[in-house]
Amino acid sequence: MTVSPPGSIDHSDVAQLRERIAGVLTRARQRTLALTDCVEDAELVAQHSRLMSPLVWDLAHIGNQEELWLVREVGGRESVRADIDGLYDAFKHARANRPGLPLLDPTQARRYIGTVRDMVWDVLERSTLQGTRLVDRGFAFGMIAQHEQQHDETMLATHQLRAGAAVLSAPAAPTASVAVTGDVVVPAGEFTMGTSTDAWALDNEGPAHQVWLPGFAIDAAPVTNAQYVAFIDDGGYQRPELWSARGWAHRIEAELVAPQFWERDSSGSWCRRVFGVTTPLRPRQPVVHVCWFEAEAYANWAGKRLPTEAEWEKAARFDPATGAVRRFPWGDTEPGASTANLGQRHLEPAEVGAYPAGASAIGAHQMIGDVWEWTASSFDAYPGFHAFPYREYSEVFFGGDYRVLRGGSFGTDPVACRGTFRNWDHPIRRQIFSGFRLARGLRPGEGE
Ligand code: AVJ
Ligand code: FE
Repeated sequence: MTVSPPGSIDHSDVAQLRERIAGVLTRARQRTLALTDCVEDAELVAQHSRLMSPLVWDLAHIGNQEELWLVREVGGRESVRADIDGLYDAFKHARANRPGLPLLDPTQARRYIGTVRDMVWDVLERSTLQGTRLVDRGFAFGMIAQHEQQHDETMLATHQLRAGAAVLSAPAAPTASVAVTGDVVVPAGEFTMGTSTDAWALDNEGPAHQVWLPGFAIDAAPVTNAQYVAFIDDGGYQRPELWSARGWAHRIEAELVAPQFWERDSSGSWCRRVFGVTTPLRPRQPVVHVCWFEAEAYANWAGKRLPTEAEWEKAARFDPATGAVRRFPWGDTEPGASTANLGQRHLEPAEVGAYPAGASAIGAHQMIGDVWEWTASSFDAYPGFHAFPYREYSEVFFGGDYRVLRGGSFGTDPVACRGTFRNWDHPIRRQIFSGFRLARGLRPGEGE
């Protein structure tokens, strides 16, 4: 969709933009309700893992953020429930303690988010979607749609942790249609990292800046289950020399022996528990639910390394033919069913080779969708970064014990995913839909 820059906006553009906003907000809400209507109230208030909030907390928190930004800030309206702001402030209460709070019950939470949304439709109708940085080109509305979708992905991870029979279902992810192996070379040179122009980019994605990188090679696809089994079979979890000191200490303490949710059947073959259903491992799917330390050990075993965040982004976005960067690996068009496994269309990563139409200019496949990909990089600000509209989205996490993940997973909605999008988590976390691909330096003569 094209929208004129602020100042030259005409009425049909505003109408078009409103329609797009209504579409992404509605899609997010349908998903939120699907993820919370499928279990009994008792399961909504239960703690399925100390790493996660009760689902009913996410539910009301989604509404509370929407109230703060769209009803109060953009709309200038009176608050709906100012008394509950503290309960749903993620910085006031750790996830593990949220079940003990006097939270809205499921009925109250559903009513609350509905009331807020009804007010938002009115705010949207009246907004010119220009004039302040917060509303220009619909930013605040896009930010809130992304926020809801991010919590929907978090709730999906809670569903994966939940014990008991399956309540979610979706068609199996596609199988390979082409063979994708080995790595692709990215010659030395500059590219533009990040964005200063994407209307709904979040603050940490900017500003755009030039980065020069030495030549490198990056895997054409994420590491698969079959490849990861070879690492396990070769004693990967028993060989401290493959792990960093911190990684090995964690491997011992957490008793890691395989990716999370893997178990062996009676014949010793690996199975995976996926949203309440145990199925044999599908060898060609990217490995998922590994922590950064496991990815690091695998890389050492393979004689390679994780890509830096800049390498990942260059491989995904840079087009050597034009010198320009793309919004997505395949170009600037929105993700669709043939380009990427996003949006919870499937409840698993697709096989490597399932999305030839989604490959990047340099030939890397499935950089968007399937699994979040760990990078070697810590989460830091780009040069010239300014927090907007609130410090607690990104800035307070800079310099912390986090590693950047890129590309989105099968559980990420397209509105919250693009070539510049940055996710981050602690290096021990693996309840997220995390996998990885590897990189390496060039051999003499390569990349010339
Ligand atoms: C960007 C996924 C790390 O879930 O902690 C949601 C997104 N920020 N509400 C998170 C977020 C505030 C954030 N991550
Ligand atoms: Fe949040």
